[in-house]
Amino acid sequence: MKKLILDVDTGVDDAQAIMIALAAPNVEILAITCSHGNTPLDNACKNTLRVLKVCNRLDIPVYRGCSGPLLGRTRHAGDFHGKDGLGDVPDPDAPGLELLQKKQAAQAIIKIVNQNPGEVSLVATAPLTNLAVAVQLNPSFPKKLKALYIMGGNTESRGNTTVCGEFNFVADPEAAYIVLDRYTCPTHIATWEFSCRSSLPWSFCDTWLAQDTDKARFMEKISLHTRKMVQTERYQKELVGGPGFNSCDTYALAAAIDDKLVMESEELAVTVELEGTHTRGMMVVDYMDLLKKKHKVFIMKKIDEEKFKQMMMKALK
Ligand code: BDR
Repeated sequence: MKKLILDVDTGVDDAQAIMIALAAPNVEILAITCSHGNTPLDNACKNTLRVLKVCNRLDIPVYRGCSGPLLGRTRHAGDFHGKDGLGDVPDPDAPGLELLQKKQAAQAIIKIVNQNPGEVSLVATAPLTNLAVAVQLNPSFPKKLKALYIMGGNTESRGNTTVCGEFNFVADPEAAYIVLDRYTCPTHIATWEFSCRSSLPWSFCDTWLAQDTDKARFMEKISLHTRKMVQTERYQKELVGGPGFNSCDTYALAAAIDDKLVMESEELAVTVELEGTHTRGMMVVDYMDLLKKKHKVFIMKKIDEEKFKQMMMKALK
């Protein structure tokens, strides 16, 4: 069994990632910790509970985390995910926030990892604030992580939020810097450009959403808003994998549940630019090893598309 903690800012692709994890027979989700990001923290918590409800898994403990970055202004991605983070589809039966655990996300992460040394992988698909706070509170716990999977950063300075920056890193550059510096466990990164290379065709999207299940109907509803954004010419031209859609967060999650999903990756040292008018929050890749960093990360390059599609299909069954 793979033991996972998911750190999310539940927007549409986080919801997809959570559903893939819930459908995987080899995965035990120990906790879901929520962060500011795509949508304000309370929405991220509520959306997480909504996803768990649709999947009949409200037994999984959900924790509230940080409501903003370590420094600077809080950013959201309402244009892309809808103001509420899940496509602005009213849900009068959404579970209430009283279902959240009392402990803070960072404390929960530390406790769970320390209780299961060497067994837990952390999948982070949000700004990295909760993870940065956790390592500040307990500097040694990342050594006990089995692995860390991150959706974030970029390798070719193609930004999706600022000219050069990817959303999760730009939303908290200091946190991203701290995490890449201090989490010395095996670290795997699904960057923005990687997600653009791994796009899936619209024909697959239609088959995926046409499944006759409550989960598929829920997904179809919450994705409508995002789909309009993804269909714009500006967005489509970034998808070098071909026209269709990229579900950024799902790649990091899928890599965590199947070690063979990533067919090619490159081991490199990376850091984050903390200054610069256009470059703050950009991931910096040290291709020539000039920084002499001991800890390197695995930058994902290529996934097994067929396997990935199967995981997606299963998530809505
Ligand atoms: C990332 O930003 C968010 O909008 C997505 O959920 C994903 O985590 C892509 O840059």
